[in-house]
Amino acid sequence: MNALSKQNICKHLNHSDDTNIIIHDCVESTNDIARLLGVQGAEQGTIIIANQQTMGRGRFAKCFFSPPDSGLYISIVLRPKFDISKFVYVTMAAGVAVVDAIKLFCDVEPRLKWINDVILNDKKICGILAESRIKSSDGSPEFIVLGIGINVIEPKGGYLTELEHIAGAACNDGQEVDRNKLAALIIDNVLDKVIDMDEACILKEFKDRLGTIGKRVVMVKDGVTLEGIAVDVDSTGGLIVKGDDGNMHCLEHVNSSIVELNNENKSE
Ligand code: BTN
Repeated sequence: MNALSKQNICKHLNHSDDTNIIIHDCVESTNDIARLLGVQGAEQGTIIIANQQTMGRGRFAKCFFSPPDSGLYISIVLRPKFDISKFVYVTMAAGVAVVDAIKLFCDVEPRLKWINDVILNDKKICGILAESRIKSSDGSPEFIVLGIGINVIEPKGGYLTELEHIAGAACNDGQEVDRNKLAALIIDNVLDKVIDMDEACILKEFKDRLGTIGKRVVMVKDGVTLEGIAVDVDSTGGLIVKGDDGNMHCLEHVNSSIVELNNENKSE
């Protein structure tokens, strides 16, 4: 696996003039570094990339396994002009950006799993964690840190035992992989989508790449476990599920997750 380098990323990057890329070999969490820089006033387009993380974080305070020489761990500082209610569109845009970049780069067809996972062959190959710092004056976002973690190839030592059946890699073992080029593609895709955000377009692109629609899902809503068929995503990023109880449910993206069941049921 080739080494990460700012020079080699910028060679492929359309947005090289409005980004500042900082590469680290090993950090605890690129999101933490980006957040610190954000607090210190770092501009939109400040991007931290690491070869390894020792305390990579996911949603619900879960660890994100981030071994060396096999993945891409990227955090992008954004200073959006939009209202915090549109925050979810950053996660959706990032999902679309990653799916499109991996499709082009690895010649595979990954799908999104609502709301922040990228799946290939039923395995998670990427997770997305967007975090915001809110202005106390008016509640608008001061900055957002968009964190993207991708398993590009399988790590040398394999995955942690508890991840063996869940985690996978974007590219095949023997595939010649240039992480710098993939990083550039992802960054360009993300910035193209979030700088002048077109919400309707992002929602459509997100739904087009979403594998969750038509699947049986299990979710917990208001402390109650429900099962049903995922039918749509609304403009707030909520997942609309036709429950087995006969009712339609909207699962808000904040603090919610689902389990997709294997038996697809597209006819319902
Ligand atoms: C998830 O799976 O719930 C989200 C995982 C997000 C992982 C990325 S890796 C880069 C950035 N730094 C972190 O600590 N987390 C994000």
